[in-house]
Amino acid sequence: MAIRKAMVAGNWKMNGSLELVKQMSDAINNVKSKKIDVVLFPPFPLVSALIASGVSTGTQTISEYKPGAFTGEVDAQLVKDLGAEYVLVGHSERRSIYNESNSTVAEKFSRAQQVGLTPILCVGESESEQENGKTELVVAAQIDAVIEKLGVAALKDSVIAYEPVWAIGTGKTASPEQAQNVHKFIRDKIAALDSDLAQGLTILYGGSVNEKNSELLFAQTDIDGGLIGGASLKADSFSAICESA
Ligand code: G3P
Repeated sequence: MAIRKAMVAGNWKMNGSLELVKQMSDAINNVKSKKIDVVLFPPFPLVSALIASGVSTGTQTISEYKPGAFTGEVDAQLVKDLGAEYVLVGHSERRSIYNESNSTVAEKFSRAQQVGLTPILCVGESESEQENGKTELVVAAQIDAVIEKLGVAALKDSVIAYEPVWAIGTGKTASPEQAQNVHKFIRDKIAALDSDLAQGLTILYGGSVNEKNSELLFAQTDIDGGLIGGASLKADSFSAICESA
């Protein structure tokens, strides 16, 4: 039976500084409950400094292409060579602001695994999609894009993060029951293809997680931790969330 890892990840988005690297590395190195994986995703210029501080680090995006004339893009192999371990793919802000399609996300997922990075596949529905009962349809299509390109086995060396778009940065956190229902849908969907892989798959919840709501969320059967935005910029809050996992 595959062993499921608990994880708390912090997505700094386009925020952060060398001072925050110091604050967070001190805080994380003091997290008492070492039973979870803690990963931070800083803006790319801070990746090396964070790695040097001993914190498990990921990058917020990579190019789907191999090195070449792609001005401004981030090469996956370089990120791996720097010592990063993870990469976010399909974050809702990449999908909405930078028009990344399910197909492009699947390409980036593939590129990440080609160089040995673990992709965190971000999925989630918009407010209107939720209101129209399309949550499972949207989330299934986002996961199917990867399965259709790479096969379900590719999910073994990955993490999935369910981030309802309507909860990101809004303070409107999904209730533990709402989140659990979608996480169970995701795990059952994958279990229909490979039950052992599904049982060992880490599925994170993201969307207005804070130190007040994290414990109840993480106590849910199919929620294996969180992908934290705003609260990952505050050492005390992020430490408390890690301790609650
Ligand atoms: O990737 C995590 C992020 O989208 C969640 O942001 O600020 O709602 O925790 P936030």
